[in-house]
Amino acid sequence: MKKFISGMLLALSAAVLPVSGVLASTGVELPPVKANIHDKQSLQRGAKYFVNYCMGCHSLGSSRYNRVAQDLGLSPEQVKDNFIFTRDDDGELQKPGDLMTNAMRKKYGEAVFGVAPPDLSLSGRLRGETWIYHYLKSFYADRTRPFGVNNTVFPNAGMPHVLWELQGLQRLEVKEEHGHKTETLVLDQPGKLSPAKYDEVVMDLTNFLVYVGEPSKLSRPTIGIFVLIFLVIFTAVAYLLKKEYWKDVH
Ligand code: HEC
Repeated sequence: MKKFISGMLLALSAAVLPVSGVLASTGVELPPVKANIHDKQSLQRGAKYFVNYCMGCHSLGSSRYNRVAQDLGLSPEQVKDNFIFTRDDDGELQKPGDLMTNAMRKKYGEAVFGVAPPDLSLSGRLRGETWIYHYLKSFYADRTRPFGVNNTVFPNAGMPHVLWELQGLQRLEVKEEHGHKTETLVLDQPGKLSPAKYDEVVMDLTNFLVYVGEPSKLSRPTIGIFVLIFLVIFTAVAYLLKKEYWKDVH
């Protein structure tokens, strides 16, 4: 019994205590990033960047255009004009009710990138905001890699640096002092955006991927408030009923 109780306490404390930070695949701890899925403007921008820069390779097989549009406050026309560039198997442009999939076959992805680009529906939950944010900022030039870039957060990733035009190209600088190695990324070749502006783009994309991972998070707080109001009213009614029933007994 004692063992059971201490086990329960341990499990509880694990659930309550903050877990240690997110690590890059190299074991380096990443500065934490907090997504804000209530910033609709940011989600709208993130969605736009996603369909423009990512959807050629990554699908979002759990999301439909019209649901995303509704959640993000976009009209069906806006979705049609700004978001749907992908064609289905018959060569027709996708429809607003369609899933946000792309036409890339797994075999093709494997042949070109070594790994088929994964569906990113759950990446917000699997990898988390901190990892995604830093991943998109951590590409650097590396001639030994097939696409000429590597990544400090995800070494030897199969993905090219698709946002290089915006960010520019970074160089990895490794310094060794007293046996301690430090790695820094230096912007060698500036892109179209300033580093601060690029960070905003990456944050918008991160926000969008976190939202996509759990769209119901947007509506859950409102539903929660209704449930609480219902419980309060229900308790009052139950109390009055109890008083009515017991009136004659006392
Ligand atoms: C040209 C194809 C291509 C494009 C475009 C592309 N990616 Fe990727 N991406 C890949 C491939 C391939 C992988 C798998 C890398 C691996 O596992 O080595 C990947 C992996 C990822 C991962 C890690 C998934 C995981 O959990 O392992 C994330 C996150 C990601 N991409 C985000 C993005 C975002 C955001 C964009 C748009 C800005 C984007 N990608 C555009 C090819 C692409």
